[in-house]
Amino acid sequence: MNRTPFDGAGESIALPAPVAPSMTLDQALKRRRSTRDFLSDALSMPALSALLWAAFGVNREQQGGRTAPSAHNWKEIDLFAVLADGAFRYEARAHRLLRVAAADLRALTGLQGFVATAPVNLVYVADFDRMAEVDVRDRPFLAGADAGCIAQNVYLHCAAVGLGTVVRASIDRGALAQALGLRMAQRITLAQTVGYARP
Ligand SMILES: Cc1cc2nc3c(=O)[nH]c(=O)nc-3n(C[C@H](O)[C@H](O)[C@H](O)COP(=O)(O)O)c2cc1C
Repeated sequence: MNRTPFDGAGESIALPAPVAPSMTLDQALKRRRSTRDFLSDALSMPALSALLWAAFGVNREQQGGRTAPSAHNWKEIDLFAVLADGAFRYEARAHRLLRVAAADLRALTGLQGFVATAPVNLVYVADFDRMAEVDVRDRPFLAGADAGCIAQNVYLHCAAVGLGTVVRASIDRGALAQALGLRMAQRITLAQTVGYARP
């Protein structure tokens, strides 16, 4: 199995500049679909970089604008990349990964078997502490909507570069939150598996 080349020595991993896919948006929309049968082959670092940037990277200097919208411009969704080599939080401004766990936590990212062997499971975590000026009862659906925008970015990016993906709500959120060391205000909204679809 190819592994993403992390050596585990550093806590912060700089990602290469993302390279944009060449497919048109119309072609990507035609190819968008959910995949649940993945090869275990790892994504290269450039492929992971492009995926994370497309998901919720910084796309303009002004206010650190991102590739997906967010309610009140809270940018309250943090992306965690759960890989064979450990779990990482994506820092969009610096475009780098910060290791949050050394163990392989992929099996904890969902209730379906393929999550344990697919190379990448993204976990979308809403930080409710960033969701000010709103009735607390509105936080879950706004966080869900914001995560959904990110998920569609990932779907279209994957369609454009030949990757498979499926967004997932079936997660044991308590177990995963504990494994990722989340605070009470950090709520897991969705997860999304990414990898090469089995032909
Ligand atoms: C909010 C949300 C939650 C979902 N949860 C799961 C899930 O837990 N497991 C899964 O296999 N698919 C899940 N899906 C994927 C849907 O089943 C899929 O999008 C739907 O069947 C349509 O198929 P398509 O994406 O290929 O068009 C979810 C989709 C959304 C939008």
